[in-house]
Amino acid sequence: MIRVDLRSDTVTHPTPEMRRAMAKAEVGDDVYGDDPTTNRLQARAAEMLGKEAGLFVTSGTQGNLVSLLAHCTRGDAFLVGDRAHIYQSEAGGTSVLGGIVMKTVPNNADGTLNPADIRSAGAKGDYHKPRVKVLAIENTQNLCGGVALSPKQVAAHVEVAREMGLKVHLDGARLFNAAIYHRVDARKLTAGVDSLTFCLSKGLSCPIGSVICGSKEFIDEANRWRKILGGGMRQVGIIAAAGLVALDSMIDRLAEDHENARKLAAGLAEIEGLELDPKSVQTNIVRFSVPSGKGVQIARGLYDEGVYINPGEMSLRVVTHYGIDREDIDYTLEAARRVVAAVMGKSVSSPKAGRNGRAAAGQNGASARTAAARR
Ligand SMILES: Cc1ncc(COP(=O)(O)O)c(C=O)c1O
Repeated sequence: MIRVDLRSDTVTHPTPEMRRAMAKAEVGDDVYGDDPTTNRLQARAAEMLGKEAGLFVTSGTQGNLVSLLAHCTRGDAFLVGDRAHIYQSEAGGTSVLGGIVMKTVPNNADGTLNPADIRSAGAKGDYHKPRVKVLAIENTQNLCGGVALSPKQVAAHVEVAREMGLKVHLDGARLFNAAIYHRVDARKLTAGVDSLTFCLSKGLSCPIGSVICGSKEFIDEANRWRKILGGGMRQVGIIAAAGLVALDSMIDRLAEDHENARKLAAGLAEIEGLELDPKSVQTNIVRFSVPSGKGVQIARGLYDEGVYINPGEMSLRVVTHYGIDREDIDYTLEAARRVVAAVMGKSVSSPKAGRNGRAAAGQNGASARTAAARR
């Protein structure tokens, strides 16, 4: 039984207010541009992020794909961090479907890319080379531990890109987490970027969807690509309604997730065998190292205690979100102390008991593998 699901902020469920808004959403055929709720969401998102227009898409992956397809043609290239989600975890979609080359630039631990690396990877070449068109950045940077680029850091990337005649695309799947961390209006983190995508279905708790924002011209082109990819949906206002609730009421509360992540990080750092620097935790993602080869066992042990995390060999990630409270963090830390001690061959003190005094449901390794498959 899942007691605490820390696999991702994508596991969040819609809030009661979202469900009410979805039930009474005014709808139309969005492929005709007739869905009033979706139109409101797109306009609201664009306004909040200082862009001319917005486009609702099915997922963050589709948002990035549509954006890069709209910026590039076959044989073009874009620069992307070597730890970026677009490069690591989107199945090479831009190359598969768009014939677009990904040129990686090393990510620094703080999520940034070095200007010298951007200049060298993006330098114009003769006809032997793919033509580099775009610089893609990510904020917050998931694989770097949810670190949040500041307005100044974003501006520095934009400046180098401009100097080189490149467009800038921002994968802002968790953009509002970055804005909350830096205590800035999100527009400060999108200034100068040509396109961006942010996810409604992560910390903002919506069941489905992301929004792309950019100029009207860019969004027209993105709309064409969304259609090509089969992403034109009809009475999608039912889903967009949840997005409007999220933009109104779910952004400020991300601070709670960040606080819970810091508390979790501080507790995990005290467990012998786990390694992390709690000061490096900025938003809702905590990454930590485990002794080599023990990650799967630790994840499985936690699973047996009702705490779900994605298994990994040497490094594990936990993500806080709506629905996780301080009590869940305490429970997770207690479970982690027991599990890590057991995996490390130390004595285990307290019995496996849940918050309500009930024994946590035991699951076997096969279930842990199922969790991995859902990653
Ligand atoms: C940084 C980042 N970008 C994009 C995505 C893709 O979002 P989706 O799962 O909605 O396709 C994710 C998903 O975790 C992500 O972490």
